[in-house]
Amino acid sequence: MSGPKLNPTSLREAFGYFPSGVIAIAAEVDGIRVGLAASTFVPVSLDPPLVSFCVQNTSETWPKLKDSPRLGISVLGELHDEAARSLAAKTGDRFAGLKTVSTDSGAVFVRGTSVWLESSIEQLIPAGDHTIVILQVSDITVHSDVPPIVFHRSAFRRLDA
Ligand SMILES: Cc1cc2nc3c(=O)[nH]c(=O)nc-3n(C[C@H](O)[C@H](O)[C@H](O)COP(=O)(O)O)c2cc1C
Repeated sequence: MSGPKLNPTSLREAFGYFPSGVIAIAAEVDGIRVGLAASTFVPVSLDPPLVSFCVQNTSETWPKLKDSPRLGISVLGELHDEAARSLAAKTGDRFAGLKTVSTDSGAVFVRGTSVWLESSIEQLIPAGDHTIVILQVSDITVHSDVPPIVFHRSAFRRLDA
């Protein structure tokens, strides 16, 4: 990085001006729910059905998640600010207080969220201090009555607030 204004802190703040949704990406590994919150989710392709998110190379959770045959992606709803923090916590049970559904294939979904995408890893692309994870979607469930949470400038917001 160069220039006095371009450093990881200023960049993180600048990126924060771009509003995004928040997903939980989760699976059951050896009978234990494993997952993390991510705001870098992006739909990628309709045919084949692909989505992506970026994971930090320092993540201690991703190595446990990545070998699961299926990963559950849940698009968090507007009431999930506490859940988003919990799903990113360094200590404690990330799923405390959350109702989840586990599929036979190992994907874990959070109840009360707007969209569930069952997925499997298609491609991993190294990208700086993150890895772009391309996932193929194998099943979708939509709960259209749940408004999404919006992550903007380090705060959780609602579409109408
Ligand atoms: C709103 C929000 C969005 C996040 N987005 C991402 C993300 O896109 N990618 C990522 O790797 N971590 C993201 N995190 C951090 C992870 O949820 C988690 O805290 C991180 O992976 C550290 O834990 P770990 O070492 O167990 O993986 C986000 C956290 C929050 C609260």
